[in-house]
Amino acid sequence: MSARLPGPVMVASGCGGTGRELAAFVELDGLDFVTRTITLDARHGTPGGRFEEVPGGLVHATGLPNPGLEHFLATELPWLVRAGAQVHVSITGRTLGEHADLARRLSRAPGVAGLEVNLGVSDTDGLGLFEVREPFHAASVVAAVRREFPSDRPVLAKVRPDVSRVVETARACVEAGASAIVVGQALPAAMSHGRAAGLSGPCLAPVTLRCVAEVSRAAPDVVLVASGGVHDLASARSLLDAGASAVQIGSALFNDPTSLARLRARLQEDA
Ligand SMILES: Cc1cc2nc3c(=O)[nH]c(=O)nc-3n(C[C@H](O)[C@H](O)[C@H](O)COP(=O)(O)O)c2cc1C
Repeated sequence: MSARLPGPVMVASGCGGTGRELAAFVELDGLDFVTRTITLDARHGTPGGRFEEVPGGLVHATGLPNPGLEHFLATELPWLVRAGAQVHVSITGRTLGEHADLARRLSRAPGVAGLEVNLGVSDTDGLGLFEVREPFHAASVVAAVRREFPSDRPVLAKVRPDVSRVVETARACVEAGASAIVVGQALPAAMSHGRAAGLSGPCLAPVTLRCVAEVSRAAPDVVLVASGGVHDLASARSLLDAGASAVQIGSALFNDPTSLARLRARLQEDA
C-alpha cells in the first residue's frame, strides 16, 4: 500500500517547537508538522549560548533537546493530534536497535501520520548518536525503521545537503524503504567562540537547490522534500520547480511565524 505523502508545505523539524508556540500564528488543523527530533531518553541539549545571527542565517547549537519518547507520547503528541496537525515524528538514536524501537512504539501511538528519520546530524560535538557517514549507514537506519512501521504510512529520510554524496545517499535510502527523501539540514558550522554548530536560513537556499536538482536529474522517481533556506514564495517555488514535491519551512518561522500561512495559501492556489 502506498503512503500519503505530505506537502506542499511542512514545518521543519525543531522549528515549530512543540506546536503550541506556533498555534497562536498558524492554523495547525491539516498542517504537515514535523516534530523536533525525539530520542528514546530525554536530552537536555547544549548548555550556554545556542543561537547567533549571521548575515543571511542563524548559527545554532541546540544538542537536540527533547523530553524523550515516553513524555512525548504522553503530552506533546496528543496535543498536536487534538489540534488536527498531520504529525510526522522526527527520530534519531544511538544504535539501529534504538531506531527500530522508536519506530515500533510510534507505530502503535494514535495519530502519528509518519516518521522522519534524522540522518543529517553532524556528530562533531559528541552527541553520542549513531553516526551516518556513508550511504550504507543511512540505508541501514532506514531499513531498521521501515521494518517496524506500517507500509501505508510514510517514512521520510532526512539527509545531509552534501552535494558530493546526496544522490548516492538518496538512492540507498529509497532502496531501503524510504517513501521520500528530505534533502537538507543545517550545514556544519561554528559559533563565534568555536563551538560546533549548524547554519540555517536563507543563505542555504542555493545549496538545497543544487542538491534537489542533482537528485531529481539523476533519480527522477525519488520523491523529494526540500528543507533549507525556504523563506518566501520565490525560494519555495524554485525548489518545487527543480523537482521537490514539498518544501519545509524552518528558521524563517523565527522571524515571522505568520509567513507559513501565506506561503501555504499561495502554493495551494498553484497546485
Ligand atoms: C533551532 C533549530 C533547531 C533544529 N532542530 C532540528 C531537529 O531537532 N531535527 C532536525 O532534523 N532538524 C532540526 N533543525 C534543522 C531544520 O529542520 C532545517 O532542516 C534547517 O534549519 C534548514 O532549514 P531552514 O534554512 O529553513 O531553517 C533545526 C534547526 C534550527 C534552526
